[in-house]
Amino acid sequence: MKEVKIESTFTVFDHIDELPKDAATLMHEAITARKKAYAPYSKFSVGAAILLDNGKTITGNNQENASYPSGLCAERTAIYYTGAQYPDAKILKMAITAGSKTNQTIAPIPPCGACRQAIAEYEVKQDAPMEIYFMGETGKVVKSNSLANLLPLAFDKSFL
Ligand code: THU
Repeated sequence: MKEVKIESTFTVFDHIDELPKDAATLMHEAITARKKAYAPYSKFSVGAAILLDNGKTITGNNQENASYPSGLCAERTAIYYTGAQYPDAKILKMAITAGSKTNQTIAPIPPCGACRQAIAEYEVKQDAPMEIYFMGETGKVVKSNSLANLLPLAFDKSFL
């Protein structure tokens, strides 16, 4: 018997203005996307922006549905569109921002488990880490150097 310890390290920026320029620009794109979210049921809007190695930026936001489970998170909207349109491009960075209409979100809000799994697929596919930045509506921004860092013991193709 042995214990295995898995550690994750994150960088915390006090404000979006502290981010490296390309990451700040990407986060502003995510904020713009958040404002266009379709979230009439939860009133919780999420925006995601993805920077590709071909210089393109893809954005997405959450799309809700009267049949609740049929809706989709912002991160998966963005990453599946990326996979569909740019299957050969590498994802360099992803920025995520979330905000509620009912209370101001100051704490950095990480992607949900399902989105982490979805994003992990593309990190494995491209065989290179992607930087993930996430924040609330305002306040601190957390940076993870890879998706793997956010999802230890991920399920991937090696198990199939
Ligand atoms: N949501 C996202 O878009 N991304 C996440 O990572 C967590 C949750 C959305 C789904 C739903 O429309 C709303 O936020 C409330 O859960």
